[in-house]
Amino acid sequence: MNASTPPVTASPRRAPGPPGRWGLRNLASFARDQLGLLRHVADEYGDVARLELLGKTYFLVSHPDDVEAVLVKHARVMLRDGHSVILERALGKGLLTSEGDLWKYQRKLMAQAFVPRRIQSYGAAMASVTAAGLGSWRDGAAINLHQEMSRLTMEVVADVLFGSGLTPADIELVRDSMETVNEFFANSPEAITLLPAWVPTPRNRRVTAAVARLDELIFRIIARRRAGEAREDLLGTLLAAQDDDGARMSDRQLRDEAMTLFLAGHETTALALAHTLYLLSTHPEVERRLHAELAAVVGDRLPTADDVRALPYAERVLKESMRLYPPA
Ligand code: HEM
Repeated sequence: MNASTPPVTASPRRAPGPPGRWGLRNLASFARDQLGLLRHVADEYGDVARLELLGKTYFLVSHPDDVEAVLVKHARVMLRDGHSVILERALGKGLLTSEGDLWKYQRKLMAQAFVPRRIQSYGAAMASVTAAGLGSWRDGAAINLHQEMSRLTMEVVADVLFGSGLTPADIELVRDSMETVNEFFANSPEAITLLPAWVPTPRNRRVTAAVARLDELIFRIIARRRAGEAREDLLGTLLAAQDDDGARMSDRQLRDEAMTLFLAGHETTALALAHTLYLLSTHPEVERRLHAELAAVVGDRLPTADDVRALPYAERVLKESMRLYPPA
């Protein structure tokens, strides 16, 4: 310890926050309007605020410098938040929910699916699925933008993960089941209170059944691939991925990673796109500049992953939209 290190005090300063020891009132506000509660706490109590929820203490860190300190500078000592265990109901122990050695091991294996050559092929799938998906849009028609973006990004993720290995009936099953799972994680009291899966509320039963349907499909696809059906898609790369000793992922681990990519990959991008399109509609001068850049770089052909480098304005538009409305 050097002379300038402050002494450790017996009673560290407590971050300010709304009153109440068990946080029941906070829980009610959180269930009603998550973002509203967080905004209120940040506005009222400052850059580092304390929030009690169901007897647990959370800290809301709002200043960008503090956020960086937590996520970057001290990343090594940070664990996943206790709440993300609820995600395991659908994701098992994939990259988003695993920690420590399992996470490190899997992260290295999964990196084999995200090398530039693979990214280029995902880009091609994204462009062609999007072009086909937008075919049904008509000038002047009213659409629900978020629904349309969810449909599109789900088809993109399905195509990138499983190639043409899904039938239209499979895609329908995935869409239905994923909607149930998304709704459960985003809004349900069961997820907020970490209610165990065995408690037979209607929503708990629906989500268990949805995950079982998805499992049946994913394990069926994995079995087909192991039996010799080879495809050049993300799942194919994960099936072939080997560690330094030549070991590969078990069926269960593959299932968890595939489900994680599916869930993490589609609703985030759908929200990012929906918010970006909404913001563009309210900022016509930005929309004009974006169109001009796209016309100059891409023109009438389908875009490729390599084009991204030549689209700095598009990147800034997307980043600003995600800064304003972070999808995750
Ligand atoms: C606009 C789009 C996206 C946003 C805003 C977003 C946001 C995030 C955030 C905030 C995390 C960190 C979560 C945490 O550690 O607590 C994360 C992790 C992750 N995301 Fe995304 N994501 C997006 C798109 C995607 C896509 C397209 C995929 C896959 C196809 C994906 C797969 C993952 C995975 C696997 C992790 C866990 C990584 C790890 O811990 O090693 N995400 N994402």
